[in-house]
Amino acid sequence: MDVSSSAMLHKSAREIQSYQSLLPEEIHVRTVQAKEALGHHLVILGHNYQRDEVIEFSDFQGDSLKLARISSELSDRKYIVFCGVSFMAETADILSPSNQVVILPDLAAGCSMADMAELEDVETVWESLCAIFPAEEKVMPVVYVNSTAELKAFCGTHGGITCTSSNAQSVFRWAFEHREKILFFPDEHLGRYTAKSIGLKESDLLVWDPSLPNGGHTPEEIRQATVLLWKGFCSVHLMFRPEHVRAFRSNYSDLKVIVHPECCEGVVEQADLVGSTELIIQTVSNSAPGTTWAIGTELNLVNRLKRIHADKKIFFLSPTVCQCSTMFRIDPIHLLWAIENLVDGHVVNRISVPADEKWWAGRALDRMMSLGF
Ligand code: 13P
Ligand code: SF4
Repeated sequence: MDVSSSAMLHKSAREIQSYQSLLPEEIHVRTVQAKEALGHHLVILGHNYQRDEVIEFSDFQGDSLKLARISSELSDRKYIVFCGVSFMAETADILSPSNQVVILPDLAAGCSMADMAELEDVETVWESLCAIFPAEEKVMPVVYVNSTAELKAFCGTHGGITCTSSNAQSVFRWAFEHREKILFFPDEHLGRYTAKSIGLKESDLLVWDPSLPNGGHTPEEIRQATVLLWKGFCSVHLMFRPEHVRAFRSNYSDLKVIVHPECCEGVVEQADLVGSTELIIQTVSNSAPGTTWAIGTELNLVNRLKRIHADKKIFFLSPTVCQCSTMFRIDPIHLLWAIENLVDGHVVNRISVPADEKWWAGRALDRMMSLGF
């Protein structure tokens, strides 16, 4: 970190410190005032996992795909304040015109899964594949949006594509129309679920351990595989276990289980429905009063569904409290601090993807967006 960014961080920390003593009502009133002052210049986006006190101020809520689409359609707004995690804010920046400013209220809001694949490691994998066959012709790199901008740019450079949890099946089908194999990163579980849901078998898949030469496989095994799955995971979703599903089913005969595809195979196999946060919200919201649900995704979202749908019995699928601690970094104080700075003419915590990376990452995102969902 250079001296000026370190000084900026200290200044931010000092400023935020001065907000800590504010009462919740003061934060609320000042947030409303700052939003009013910024008017149409500002849009606040809130991912479905955000806490209620933040969601309350978001102009749009949604899953990662919905928010990416919305941010690409809001070129008239000067400021996008993204209440989510860094890869989502980066995606918004990639999809937005260069004069638009994207802000992440707390820069520590990252995603541990996104950090499991680094550009250098992905390039090493690509080189290993190129040594075995003409990878550029045979292998489609597909990156989950839960990844850094530089990995999206890698995909853009190699004719590849991004996907989200709500369109991964369509993206995989598209990939197979163009090349015979897929290299999917960084979530092994979403990759496995998606591949199997479009008809592939376990024997078609190979888990690639980036810490081992050739991912831990022989060239022949790699030649035989159809989908190479990067060995990455979401620690939040791996908290849901097959035994939790069994325990709920034995206690509630009419229960429906709905989970996010980042859960492990033993969980998704037993679930009644698997899908993105948006699908989970829609399905539970549209279900009949009196229905019983066990939901396998982040705690803030499940608690919100419980509050909104008091006429339904809704359970969190794990007995242990597990929430996305990085999503939780965004709180009313950071949100207020970010937008009051905008009112004063200061931009804090801007997320700005370097131009070259932005262009190539944009190609991978455009390919996904052009599939039209
Ligand atoms: P969605 O695609 O449902 O927004 O999920 C993103 C995510 O990070 C899940 O952990
Ligand atoms: Fe990343 Fe998991 Fe948090 Fe989603 S829930 S943002 S995948 S750490």
